[in-house]
Amino acid sequence: MMAGSQNTARIIGVIGASGSGKSRWLKGTLAKGDPAKLLIWDPLNEYDHGRIVTDLRELVETLAALEPADPFKLTYRPGPDMATYSKKFEAFCALAFEVPDVCCVIEELADVTSPSYAPPAWSRLSRQGRHKGMTIFAASQRPTLMDKTFLGNCTMIHCSRLNDENDVKTMSRYLGVSQEQVRAMVADKAAGRFDFIERDMQTGKTVAGHLT
Ligand SMILES: Nc1ncnc2c1ncn2[C@@H]1O[C@H](COP(=O)(O)OP(=O)(O)O)[C@@H](O)[C@H]1O
Ligand SMILES: [Mg+2]
Repeated sequence: MMAGSQNTARIIGVIGASGSGKSRWLKGTLAKGDPAKLLIWDPLNEYDHGRIVTDLRELVETLAALEPADPFKLTYRPGPDMATYSKKFEAFCALAFEVPDVCCVIEELADVTSPSYAPPAWSRLSRQGRHKGMTIFAASQRPTLMDKTFLGNCTMIHCSRLNDENDVKTMSRYLGVSQEQVRAMVADKAAGRFDFIERDMQTGKTVAGHLT
């Protein structure tokens, strides 16, 4: 499914325009890696991994009932009211931080962060989570709307088609490839082709591939 995909990183930024294949790649990567502990922030109701939880209190109670070594999968759906997201996301990140070795997936990160502001619990998770054995995937349509600390802390970046010229320039810098190479990526639903470029931020190794 993922020609050329690397799979070593712990903090993975997943960047690309809407419909460019971010969630498809994430689902394929989760299926391949099959993490023992999985916690998903799912604002678009598109994941169905393990138990689906829509109530924050239920999420708290479910996690509290687990023994440290228990495997689990939880999909948390914060619902349609984005005005409630900042409080819910803060709680979600604080809960995730208490679970060693968890694989955490954040969809649509730019809904809950901004270039100059990261919620404190998210900031702690993305800065210190690695030391607790965590793997964090965070997806966004717009790199320019993500908090800069997060992109700077990524151990791997997976980037698919971008439509905005500022985003092309930004990702060209982060990926260390030409703007032309970033701009040329294709997301073609009819052809079932979704290009991506990945960079291992620790080694600098860059790979181009596509979902098929
Ligand atoms: N399981 C699937 N089978 C076929 N097409 C899919 C599937 N999942 C998503 N798609 C389509 O693939 C494209 C990429 O989807 P998606 O990964 O959700 O993009 P993104 O998360 O970047 O917005 C979309 O056009 C979507 O309709
Ligand atoms: Mg998506």
